[in-house]
Amino acid sequence: MQSVTERAYAKLNLSLDVLSRRDDGYHNLRMVMQSVTLCDEVKITRSGGTEPLRLTSDLSFLPGPDRNTAAIAARVFAQTTGRSLDGVVIDLRKRIPISAGTAGGSSDGAAVLRGLNTLFGTKLTPPELEKLGEQVGSDVPYCVSGGTALAEGRGEILSPLPALPDCHIVLSKPSFSVSTQELFRRIDGVRLTLRPDTAGLIAALEQGNLEDVAQRIYNVFEDVLPRPRQEKVRSMKHTLIDCGALGACMSGTGPTVFGLFNDREKAEHAARRLKVLYPETYLTRPI
Ligand code: C5P
Repeated sequence: MQSVTERAYAKLNLSLDVLSRRDDGYHNLRMVMQSVTLCDEVKITRSGGTEPLRLTSDLSFLPGPDRNTAAIAARVFAQTTGRSLDGVVIDLRKRIPISAGTAGGSSDGAAVLRGLNTLFGTKLTPPELEKLGEQVGSDVPYCVSGGTALAEGRGEILSPLPALPDCHIVLSKPSFSVSTQELFRRIDGVRLTLRPDTAGLIAALEQGNLEDVAQRIYNVFEDVLPRPRQEKVRSMKHTLIDCGALGACMSGTGPTVFGLFNDREKAEHAARRLKVLYPETYLTRPI
């Protein structure tokens, strides 16, 4: 029996811009991505037995094998490397909120690719794992190595960026969920007027200036949320700023909202205030 445990870190979008709609139905994006310490644990065990791939989890509900990114990643790995998944068990300990715009599923998928690569000794390089990740989901290539990066194209064209200066991050998921497809449809129907200053954000990262970074975080999807949800996101951002966040923004297609703090006590206070209303509130840090 051999096993390997990988941490699957959550991701936040310091910026998200939708540039154009593509012929393949996807969109060209420009996003500054950041990993945070909040993570799932993905344990992969290989027993040498002959039973088919099995997934276990501490969740009461797990998406079926056709929609579960961990299972899809395992199948992509097996098909590409010619290895058999018989006797393999993947166990997910979930901490990252689900369907929240924080890449929980994508990060689990990337962790499965890394873990199987180690377990089977296949020695695929990070760029090769990223290539496999493209078949699993648009955020999976980024999640292979994580950190601070610019993601373009569908999300697979990655350029490393200087690390976000160390800070305290409060992230909070309101109780509603949003459909990614619906938000992309909505964005196709409007002319965006507010866009993130991606170049300015990258310059602020290069200067290591947290205040300037925080002032430039922005996500175009905030503008196309259905009205009551948009108001909730705005009010959560307000609470974060009110508590001393240097900037606040929604991540991915939401609904998770986060704030960047240079002061731990202020961040703790904000987390306490939001947790009363939104139990899925976490205090985390960049990684
Ligand atoms: O690649 P993934 O399965 O994560 O994408 C989920 C959905 O998000 C896609 O079906 C598509 O509607 C939308 N999407 C997009 N453009 C991207 C990434 C995702 O339109 N670059």
